[in-house]
Amino acid sequence: MVSTAASLPVSTHDDAALELPDGSHRERVPVLIFEHPAQMARQVARRIANLIEERQAVGKNVVLGLPTGSTPIGVYEELVRMHREQGLDFSNVITFNLDEYYPMKPDSLQSYHRFMHEHFFDHVNIPKENIHIPRGDLPREEVEAYCLQYEHAITKAGGLDLVLLGIGRSGHIGFNEPGSGPETRTRLVVLDEITRKDAASDFFGEENVPREAITMGVGTILDAREIILMATGEHKASIVRRAVEEEPNRRVTASFLQRHRDATFYVDRAAAGELTRIKTPWLVREVTWTPELAKRAVIWLSEKLGKAILHLEAADFYRNHLQGLVHAYGNVDDLCRQVFEDLRRRIRYPESLPRKERIIVFSPHPDDDVISMGGMLDKLVRNENEVTVAYMTNGSVAVFDADVRRMLRFVEMSLPALGFNDEAGREAFRKTKERYLRFLKNKKPGEVDLEPIQQLKAYIRYAEAVAAIEVMGLDERHARFLDMPFYKTGTVRKAPIGEADVQVVLELLREIRPSHVFVAGDLSDPHGTHRMCYRAIQLALERYNQPADLPDGEAKDAPQNGTASKGKKKEKAGPSRPAAERPLVWLYRGAWQEWEIDKTDIFIPLSKADLDRKIEAIFKHESQKDRAMFPGAYDEREFWERAKDRNRETAAALNRLGLPEFYAAEAFVTTYEMP
Ligand code: F6R
Repeated sequence: MVSTAASLPVSTHDDAALELPDGSHRERVPVLIFEHPAQMARQVARRIANLIEERQAVGKNVVLGLPTGSTPIGVYEELVRMHREQGLDFSNVITFNLDEYYPMKPDSLQSYHRFMHEHFFDHVNIPKENIHIPRGDLPREEVEAYCLQYEHAITKAGGLDLVLLGIGRSGHIGFNEPGSGPETRTRLVVLDEITRKDAASDFFGEENVPREAITMGVGTILDAREIILMATGEHKASIVRRAVEEEPNRRVTASFLQRHRDATFYVDRAAAGELTRIKTPWLVREVTWTPELAKRAVIWLSEKLGKAILHLEAADFYRNHLQGLVHAYGNVDDLCRQVFEDLRRRIRYPESLPRKERIIVFSPHPDDDVISMGGMLDKLVRNENEVTVAYMTNGSVAVFDADVRRMLRFVEMSLPALGFNDEAGREAFRKTKERYLRFLKNKKPGEVDLEPIQQLKAYIRYAEAVAAIEVMGLDERHARFLDMPFYKTGTVRKAPIGEADVQVVLELLREIRPSHVFVAGDLSDPHGTHRMCYRAIQLALERYNQPADLPDGEAKDAPQNGTASKGKKKEKAGPSRPAAERPLVWLYRGAWQEWEIDKTDIFIPLSKADLDRKIEAIFKHESQKDRAMFPGAYDEREFWERAKDRNRETAAALNRLGLPEFYAAEAFVTTYEMP
């Protein structure tokens, strides 16, 4: 089946991904696109299970190459489930992991040994002697011989039957960073800057990330009989496109998989977002022109030619593969006017924003609110809305030790001025302070902070958050610190979203009964916290909108769209909270990316004064200023600079399309059902 670009070519009803016929894409290797990462994980797990069982049937072993990282966790979970519930037997499985940091003790928090045991090996029956993970604890002079031995062990086991891979934003597979060629074998490598920055949060700071790693080579991987590379999330979209659409090259080592006769990319919809067949499908095949797709194409054409939408002419469409669009619409001028007007209507001034309503702004970390929607927040307050800003996590892992030292000294010096003159009390404080300072001094790289120090770090961020919303005219009564349970593991690796997390959000919804909620929709933050927060709100809202959550007798029939609705989003059938009481969800994006112009539902223009106030609020997050702990790779800009650049760029993009020349603008997507 060939689906149109409007209904994206992804699987929706079962776990199968849809493939397009030849010539309808630019991909040089098979790519399967899945609607949800969970479907993808199930499909990959099933492939592995089949292989294990096929081999068992003929009394043979199966040799797997395995990755770590965030991507394969769903597959490991599914395999563990199959083992528990369906008795999937792993006794004929031999595994070789792709890589390990160097140096790295196997029991360290960040070690891949530990990762594999926690996520997989401890829960299935792979014989211990069949498990191989590169050792990161050998003396340097032994590493070379050890790597050779690792290769021999793979050969001796019969070679790799199936290698599972993730892909780094540097394009690496295993830790084969840019420059690695198809001839490379297991060896010690130096990590790329982007890889170390992406790992910074796991190590409590980039400076703690090892500079080297041991990895299977590209050649080792290519020798496998079958290869599956998995990628999820928007942050992987551009590297996935390069890996599958560019010719094989050393800048993107994953591109060498194109040379393998049985390599397949499994990607979710977000990671597929930059593929030509998804982003600009008209370049590679006939499409059915829906209004959304037509709009996207007109904006694309206008941007490509650097011509305002209302300046476009028929010849521009013909010369750029859009003859089908001209044919479908007949009149290019009408089409351009429709798109222009559609965009113009999405620009909202304060008088058409919520007024005197109850609003919750969910902020994953204690600065996303002002970084991502400081301009909007300001306008909501001026419109006399009752705004509650709910900080979902405390952000303590991103606070430098130096800030804790400074605060401890500040408190000690301040005690007498605050009237705490009791000598014994001050002495007790001094002792505690010394103990914490000693701990910080002796702390090893990547070591978890003592519980009270984690708390102090959280309070540093909370105090900053209040100072920031004060710039907008709010105060501490408007701030809620939800301290969601999933975040409180003390390490950077977070627990999955659980019932307790959903409850925290649900209780707030029930208490405030908001008509609007603002939610971070930028799901590509480096440590995944935004994704988790999004999920918790999504689950809580589903329940909040369902009858079980309504007081007796309140359940009504299927709702009409509420007054605030644009009426375009699908409503679920069946009884639920009356439409007028269901909050409209505003998705904002933050430091890491912005909504595309064609996807944006509402643009909020900001004047220079508006933007200055927003920046002033961002400045209050002092612990994240000058040098943030997790700035993300290849971007030295501070958060306020990114916010400023992004908002100014949104305004400039609108202007290039022929819309007014705003100084800056924020962008939002609105929906009643979080996708
Ligand atoms: C890890 C590995 C790496 C990761 C890649 C993606 O064993 O081999 O290549 O697969 O860095 O990591 P995640 O999945 O965390 O995005």
